Amino acid sequence: MFKMLRCVMSTREATNKKLIRQTISVCAFSTNNRLLSGYDQENASESRRQSVAEYYAGKSVFITGGTGFLGKVLLERLLSTCGSIDKIYLLVREKKGQPIQVRLKQLLDVPLFDNLKRVKPSSLSKIVPIRGDIAKNKLEISGEDEGKLIEDVNVVFHSAATVKFTDDFRTMMTVNFEGTAKVLELSKQIINLDTFVYISTAFSNCNKPVIDEVIYPPPKPIGEVYKFIEKYGDNQEKINKFLDGLPNTYTFSKALCENLVKEKHGDLKTIIVRPSIVSPALQSSLPGWCDSWVAATATFSDVARGLTRVIYGSSDVTCNMIPVDYVCNLAIVAAARGNPSNETIVYNSCSYPTNSISWKHGADLYLEESLKHGRVPGSLRPRKVAVSTSPLVVSYLTFTRQTVPAFLADLWLRVRGQKPRHMQMQQRSVLLRDLLRDFTSTKLSFKMDRSQRLIATMSEEDKILFPCDPKTVNWKEYIKDFYNGVQKFMLRDK
Ligand SMILES: NC(=O)c1ccc[n+]([C@@H]2O[C@H](COP(=O)([O-])OP(=O)(O)OC[C@H]3O[C@@H](n4cnc5c(N)ncnc54)[C@H](OP(=O)(O)O)[C@@H]3O)[C@@H](O)[C@H]2O)c1
Repeated sequence: MFKMLRCVMSTREATNKKLIRQTISVCAFSTNNRLLSGYDQENASESRRQSVAEYYAGKSVFITGGTGFLGKVLLERLLSTCGSIDKIYLLVREKKGQPIQVRLKQLLDVPLFDNLKRVKPSSLSKIVPIRGDIAKNKLEISGEDEGKLIEDVNVVFHSAATVKFTDDFRTMMTVNFEGTAKVLELSKQIINLDTFVYISTAFSNCNKPVIDEVIYPPPKPIGEVYKFIEKYGDNQEKINKFLDGLPNTYTFSKALCENLVKEKHGDLKTIIVRPSIVSPALQSSLPGWCDSWVAATATFSDVARGLTRVIYGSSDVTCNMIPVDYVCNLAIVAAARGNPSNETIVYNSCSYPTNSISWKHGADLYLEESLKHGRVPGSLRPRKVAVSTSPLVVSYLTFTRQTVPAFLADLWLRVRGQKPRHMQMQQRSVLLRDLLRDFTSTKLSFKMDRSQRLIATMSEEDKILFPCDPKTVNWKEYIKDFYNGVQKFMLRDK
């Protein structure tokens, strides 16, 4: 086979790198089919032949959600590590009257891309913005753009979603569920699509104590969901009962999406990557990078600013976070390995059970790091966070440790003729804490056997280029970058 490959590669007519790459894939695939049985053996064998970057050479990918926290890092990682990637089509919607070119410029203006601009400025020209909106009919993509995607794309990463827990049920379904259906339908038309990767969430099945890398039955039949929304709209009490133990309509919608991908993928090769709580970057070109107040980021920062002094939970509940670059790298590697089967396969991208950190420990380390830099100006005095599963205790501690000091601090501001702000900040931090109650107080166990087998197929070079093994995270060290990242990129060191 290798002789044949060399021969093909030396043939002048085969200068088109896409053709060479296709030949590699075909040869590798036919060898696997002949000699190997079992998907994991196939993966292991493939990895000896092809590095992750080699897989992407000459390939084009389509990313939805590329303007988001995770999507930006995915884009940056692909451009930084896969030098011969052909094009990256980015779905961008017009927002607040800003055309997509302006949004793309804003996207690339963030510090995450500084290194790329310095080292490989030409790589940015590989980005092709595609105007579209997953909540709109036919994604609102023009016929011309649709044609480009159908002709050219090899891998789809569908990451776009609304992650706002406060969005109403109908919006969750329109954006997350129907949006995924539309992206899937478009993907089915793509001529040379190798893999469709759906970014789900590890909490899509958090009503189960152990979450394996399998797709569980949908929490409710889809017809029933729409009937419910029609009848009860946003009646929170009814919704809570309807969610089948899931904490919110976001996780519920993601569970439905997973089933949608499983049931409706047709001939597409599909992969689901399930990150837990996505936290700042660890090893990308910009350690600590983050631009989103996601669960752990907001909670730890509120603790350090003296806003949160008590959370729901017990001291041993894992803060199941995973650095954003680890999630993106796992998705990149998973797509490179592909899925030769017709079943949708799932990779959990979470903290590793034997290498994890609790909410309490994480918050304490973050506070410790923060105090090295002095108290945040204008904030209340921070103190170690208390944890309790008892609503009574949490309410009492909230009142005595948060509300009263905030009230007094505002009184003092008023006396000095200044605008009060502490009570308002209190309300926001309590709202956040309560929204995260299920996540901070529920013990969950995530299985990651398939992800570990995938990581085992990577060469040592690829493990350095695409770190994604949660076993290797040193949480104590990481929290330092985490803190610095939040200060620098979220709070701008104010
Ligand atoms: N962050 C986490 O902790 C976490 C954890 C587990 C799973 N996930 C999953 O990871 C994915 C990305 O999350 P994220 O944290 O990056 O969220 P994010 O920062 O809020 O980004 C969401 C992305 O989706 C896009 N989007 C939303 N509605 C859209 C629409 N109607 N049409 C087109 N694009 C739309 C947004 O575009 P605009 O810029 O135009 O708004 C943005 O690019 C999601 O699927 C989420 O469920 C995230």
